[in-house]
Amino acid sequence: MKRAVFLFLVLTMFVSLCACGSTAAQATPAPTSGSTSEPVPPADEAAGPEAAVETPEASGSDILVLYFSRTGEQYNVGVIEKGNTAIVAEIIGEATDADLYEILPADDHYPMTYKELTDVALQEQRDRTRPAYAGELPDFDSYDTIFIGAPVWWGDWPMILYTVFESTPLSGKTLIPFSTHAGSGLSGFDRSLAAAYPDCTIAKGLAITGTDAQNNPDKVQSSVASWLSELGF
Ligand SMILES: Cc1cc2nc3c(=O)[nH]c(=O)nc-3n(C[C@H](O)[C@H](O)[C@H](O)COP(=O)(O)O)c2cc1C
Repeated sequence: MKRAVFLFLVLTMFVSLCACGSTAAQATPAPTSGSTSEPVPPADEAAGPEAAVETPEASGSDILVLYFSRTGEQYNVGVIEKGNTAIVAEIIGEATDADLYEILPADDHYPMTYKELTDVALQEQRDRTRPAYAGELPDFDSYDTIFIGAPVWWGDWPMILYTVFESTPLSGKTLIPFSTHAGSGLSGFDRSLAAAYPDCTIAKGLAITGTDAQNNPDKVQSSVASWLSELGF
């Protein structure tokens, strides 16, 4: 975990340095902690998550894709209207005919600018905050298999996922983690899921870079397809 965070820090520093010589055609330079010079879009340019949370009607599928994702300014992709993880979640959902459920914060205090978001997220991790989620989660009894996805935040799940894990018994189910990230891969999502759910089967996870999620849909489709096939879908 520490190694993943270290790699992320090295990566953000590297991309930030590269961005100094970048052209306007490139993605918005990735802000890094401590950096002040990057152009930061106004928060209202970014589409935030929907405030209304609907618990999905039972569709008959026994597969659920549960995910957390952010729009706004994100690492190396500029200001995005659909979150990187949301894009991957939808691809998985379509390929497996699953229901989708997006975890949203009850109080959306997360900044829409990257550097500020990293600061808030780091503080939450240090404080082991358990941010409340909005609305009611789906009725998990209907599902045997649950894909659980999120962006890697400081080498770990965003803290709101732990709020879900700690309030949601899922004994006996098959849980399949997936991440989007900027270089840290799955960042131990599988191990922390196994620790939270010792009575579940944890299947092999998938890690997709945020830049591929935004800019390379064919590559992501193909990675998801081979992963699902390996898992027996
Ligand atoms: C608060 C924060 C912390 C992050 N920490 C890491 C990290 O430790 N390792 C990494 O590879 N990427 C890290 N990233 C990059 C995100 O994981 C990546 O951009 C992801 O695709 C964002 O997905 P989303 O649009 O679904 O929120 C971080 C991004 C944010 C906002």
